[in-house]
Amino acid sequence: MRSGQIHDTDDPVRVLHLTDPHLFGHTAGVLRGIVTHASLSSVIEHYRAGGWRAHVAVLTGDVIQDDAKAAYAECRKLFAQLELPIYCVPGNHDIRSLMREALAEPPFHYCASTVSGNWLIVGIDSCAEGRASGYVTDDEQSRLSAVIAASQAQHVMVCLHHPPISMGSAWLDAVGLDNGEEFLARLRSTGKVRLAVFGHVHQPYDELHDGVHIICTPSTCRQFMQGSDEFAVDDHPPAYRRISLHADGRVQTELVWVQHD
Ligand SMILES: [Fe+2]
Repeated sequence: MRSGQIHDTDDPVRVLHLTDPHLFGHTAGVLRGIVTHASLSSVIEHYRAGGWRAHVAVLTGDVIQDDAKAAYAECRKLFAQLELPIYCVPGNHDIRSLMREALAEPPFHYCASTVSGNWLIVGIDSCAEGRASGYVTDDEQSRLSAVIAASQAQHVMVCLHHPPISMGSAWLDAVGLDNGEEFLARLRSTGKVRLAVFGHVHQPYDELHDGVHIICTPSTCRQFMQGSDEFAVDDHPPAYRRISLHADGRVQTELVWVQHD
């Protein structure tokens, strides 16, 4: 596990959240009517063209769609344009052995942690081999506890792929985090976790659960229909999220939709 310092002032730590790009090994790859390389490019271009600048990016999985090593190479090329350290975790569509190898070197940090001012950011692997639903193993939960215990930071942001809460959508809840309740209880028990961000469900979510912000950012490609009990996509555009982590533990976020043809 890698650890680093990205920011050391009292200004808010600014985090760019991107998720579920579903890239292919070839740039023309289409997923449910969207060229995923082009839609991610639009998102990155929108960030670069705006005035808001992040200190760090987090990427919460489903980096690739076609099981191709070349898709991770495309990921490296596109994300290099951000000129940011990128803390990434795998999703159920990732091949962990390929991802760990392809995204282990800077600017990428795989399932790693970093301290910035009063905040500790930790990437958690929530994937379970061979299935779409997730599970945070005892080992991974122990690693999280150890990283928190070893840090002077007073506030913690956790990044994972699967939602630790119900989405109110039968088909998505069937592929959620199998031990979400237990994991959330573990987060609460630390007394320091203020924020958990996830992907996987390709739709926005932003709720406070017993003092912990639980936040999802829609995909950089196709979105799923909110509240649907069966699989359904909708026509919301690609998106990213701007997150500000204040030194006193407050969290502010702004969801940004990116028009894409
Ligand atoms: Fe996904």
